[in-house]
Amino acid sequence: MQVFSLSPLFAIFHSQFVILILLLFCSLLLLLPFVQWRHLRHKRLPPGSMGWPYIGETLKLYTENPNSFFSNRQKRYGDIFKSHILGCPCVMVSSPQAARVVLVSQAHLFKPSYPPSKEKMIGPEALFFHEGAYHSRLKKLVQASFLPSAIRGSVSKIEHIALKLIPTWNNCTIYTLQEMKRYAFDVAMISALGDQHDLEMEGIKNLYQRLEKGYNSMPLDLPGTPFRKAMKARKLLNEDLRRIIEKRREIGKHGGGLLGILLGAEDEEHNQLSDSQIADNIIGVIFAAHDTTASVLTWILKYLHDNVNLLEAVTKEQEGIQCKLFEENRGLTWDDTRRMPLTGRVIQETLRTASILSFTFREAVEDVEFEGYFIPKGWKVLPLFRTIHHSADFFPQPEKFDPSRFEVPPRPNTYMPFGNGVHACPGSELAKLETLILLHHLTTSCRWQVVGDGDGIQYGPFPVPKQGLPIKVTPRTKK
Ligand code: HEM
Repeated sequence: MQVFSLSPLFAIFHSQFVILILLLFCSLLLLLPFVQWRHLRHKRLPPGSMGWPYIGETLKLYTENPNSFFSNRQKRYGDIFKSHILGCPCVMVSSPQAARVVLVSQAHLFKPSYPPSKEKMIGPEALFFHEGAYHSRLKKLVQASFLPSAIRGSVSKIEHIALKLIPTWNNCTIYTLQEMKRYAFDVAMISALGDQHDLEMEGIKNLYQRLEKGYNSMPLDLPGTPFRKAMKARKLLNEDLRRIIEKRREIGKHGGGLLGILLGAEDEEHNQLSDSQIADNIIGVIFAAHDTTASVLTWILKYLHDNVNLLEAVTKEQEGIQCKLFEENRGLTWDDTRRMPLTGRVIQETLRTASILSFTFREAVEDVEFEGYFIPKGWKVLPLFRTIHHSADFFPQPEKFDPSRFEVPPRPNTYMPFGNGVHACPGSELAKLETLILLHHLTTSCRWQVVGDGDGIQYGPFPVPKQGLPIKVTPRTKK
């Protein structure tokens, strides 16, 4: 009975209680942005300028000398500062310790971040875009394919590519970057696909060039735009690669190169990689391998041209090896390439001075407390390799091209031309090997003169000497 007499009262209280809760909930929702804003205000964002609305500091980054863009801000704000580039708020970090936190010790808080258009062009299943189990499975396979033990057998094939190309430059004016791209592309192709029919290689090369033309264009998917043309080439490239994959699967021979390793890969449950996983990673590796190496080679030719004594010393080192090859009537071997210490230091110093990857992009996967600052979830975080490589604290007289500084190893985490941590470059040994091989034959057979003043830098997309360094090449007259 009592229950009946109480129930209307209870119903009134109950409905009032529900209304009260609803009101409270709505006001909380309304207050949420304010609370978040207060919360952000109390958290200490790094110092720095966010530039103009939307464009931020993007124009400044792409019009100023990159060394001064970063170092001016570092001087003004310190090693960690905020900015706004390419439509995103970001935090730039320029101390070796902070870069290590982002790339190595707290790498799980900072995921790789690329514009969606780049992901579409390279292929969404390429390892760059991934983390965790899929990334580490692919990384192990790619690394296995480019370990010294795996590439030492490629020396004669790479040498063959260099020996075919260099004589075509004699008594001509060439655009160094363009020619180095041809070289690095052919090396990337044999590394990715192993021995493949010339005709198939040519087809892939043509499609790749078409894809590359649109790679840095505005991502406008409209008829006639470079982006649309590049995406069309990407589709055809995929079809070509799938045909090669199918053929190798049919005949039951995985073949050589990275493709062979990817085709033979099985996980613990005996699952193989799918065709699209394989195709995206082959395209991705060729992409990562050739522009980077070609840009570094272009800078080496510029630095050797500008430092005549160094060029003579490198030539002497290479002539020592050449004598041995003549005596023993053979071509270069892996072991020969291990006996080029000065040439090796020239490569190291070029990687430092040119720092063709000025920085890399990561994104905070959650709100992060970082070295006393607050980085909101979704902000980009950019470790600045170039600024660290050009710091006088770690590399005295940083603007001087001085390979002898590498006679002693650099301090830990101060030298990262190939990145650091889980996403570090798996192709560093191949890049160094192909550079040594080309320099051996170039310095012992040719000399080059820069055409024009040789000053200035262009971005395409990596920084290289203006116009891709036009040079006049002549056969070398031995002293
Ligand atoms: C001198 C030439 C090269 C330079 C300076 C260079 C530099 C780099 C750097 C700095 C990274 C790390 C990017 C990041 O952390 O976001 C990277 C990643 C990568 N590089 Fe290279 N690279 C070169 C040549 C090559 C070559 C020859 C290959 C071919 C095997 C290659 C394949 C890759 C791949 C697949 C990744 C992605 C790794 C991952 O996400 O786990 N690179 N490279």
